[in-house]
Amino acid sequence: MARALRRILAWAVVVAGLGAAVLLATGCALYSGARTSTVGELGFENELAIPPLLEPHEEDGQKVFELTLQQGRAELLPGTRAETWGVNGSYLGPTLRAARGDRVEVRVRNELPEATTIHWHGMHLPAFADGGPHQLIEPRETWTPSWTIEQPAATLWYHPHPHGRTAEHVYRGVAGLFLLDDREADRLSLPREYGADDIPLVVQDKRLHDDGSLDFSQAWISPTGRLGDTILVNGTYDPYVEIHDQRVRFRLLNGSAARVYNIGFADDRQFDLVATDGGLLEAPYRTARIQLSPGERAEIVASFRPRERVVLRSFEPELGTNFWEERFAGGDDSFDMLQVRAAAALDPSPDIAARLATRQHMHADDAARTRRFELDGRSINDADFDIARIDQTVEAGSVEIWEVRNASGTPHNFHPHGVSFRLLADDVSEPPPALAGWKDTIYAPPGKTLRLLVRFGDYPDPHTAYMFHCHLLQHEDRGMMGQYIVVERGGASSAHRTGHGDLGEATPSKESR
Ligand code: C2O
Ligand code: CU
Ligand code: CU
Repeated sequence: MARALRRILAWAVVVAGLGAAVLLATGCALYSGARTSTVGELGFENELAIPPLLEPHEEDGQKVFELTLQQGRAELLPGTRAETWGVNGSYLGPTLRAARGDRVEVRVRNELPEATTIHWHGMHLPAFADGGPHQLIEPRETWTPSWTIEQPAATLWYHPHPHGRTAEHVYRGVAGLFLLDDREADRLSLPREYGADDIPLVVQDKRLHDDGSLDFSQAWISPTGRLGDTILVNGTYDPYVEIHDQRVRFRLLNGSAARVYNIGFADDRQFDLVATDGGLLEAPYRTARIQLSPGERAEIVASFRPRERVVLRSFEPELGTNFWEERFAGGDDSFDMLQVRAAAALDPSPDIAARLATRQHMHADDAARTRRFELDGRSINDADFDIARIDQTVEAGSVEIWEVRNASGTPHNFHPHGVSFRLLADDVSEPPPALAGWKDTIYAPPGKTLRLLVRFGDYPDPHTAYMFHCHLLQHEDRGMMGQYIVVERGGASSAHRTGHGDLGEATPSKESR
């Protein structure tokens, strides 16, 4: 009996050992297979597409833009055809452009087979025009928001926002840029000829089947969602761009669902970061890398010598998580993105302005209150998105501190609609220069707390909510999103009492104007 027992035990040990070995081997295989790199592997064979500038027409003193969301077929891989979605075309959309003070109207016609929305990411505008999940456009319907541009020059963008479907709609190809100008920025010495020395770069990762079609299979091991192994820039695979000026501005948008890029040149040359999400920095910041999580933008100006070729690359991003999550969230991935080919003769460009935007004063002391947002699992402050629940009520024109903590070990980021914010210093340091300007989307490293100084717009509307959410689109779709409304000054305490996670003590608001 004892002998039989011992034999069984011995077998059990062998089986368990084998099991562990198999698990370990699978883990190792998964781990090493999860690293993706295209560095040195591209031929830069296709000319970079530049999204066309959409000309508005004037009507009743408004600039009117017409957008049609449509199905189409696009050559995502040369020589193949993929079923895609696009705006006024088969993949991605045109660039809209307007200036501070302009009254704009956009007629968005939905010719897609399902309801969607178009959200103006980074725009300061009334909630009814924001294009969040509440402003659904049914198939064959047209949505026509209008508003006045009331914010500084910036690189904004637009994309769908139907709850639960955002990642897929963006992945299929619905997205585009919305550039804003202002007088102050127009006077600065900066490259500004669209498509020539001012080049938009919409960076997206895809998974493509051999026949060139989009792969919709779900990521089952990545903590952040589907990560593509193929980079498209403005929808172009393996792109190059020819330039004819000594200095070129690139407007970078991370239009991906989950991937974080750490962008720089292959030869490590430095460039000037001149703007982030919400507009120009006060002064150019010289650096060799700019990291962008999904939804973030940056404008950089780089210098070139005649005839040289240099590759714009995404280096391994710093996600600040453990080695396992890091690997499966793309933290060890690198990509060649675009080859810049300088012409034999380059037009001289003036030095870029040493001062860019004038400083707009906004101090932590101006904040009326602090609210906390804890990101964990797929929820914010332990609550999953509920379109029927208002989470926060803020007063029009107020300044608040929004304290965002990533309480998980997983990468997240944070984006509130309708506003720009500044990152405040934490206990140990001032914000890094690349995060010191106006932002509307910011990476939230695991375990870290970000203190954002937010100024809210002056469009009170107790009936229409703005969103705030993680901009990793699968997280957002799975419920990592909440809603806030903006009410009249003095209205927050009466009609709409606190929402979830509202920890603000009522320090009296110091009017700063
Ligand atoms: Cu790009 Cu809710 O936003
Ligand atoms: Cu947005
Ligand atoms: Cu997230």
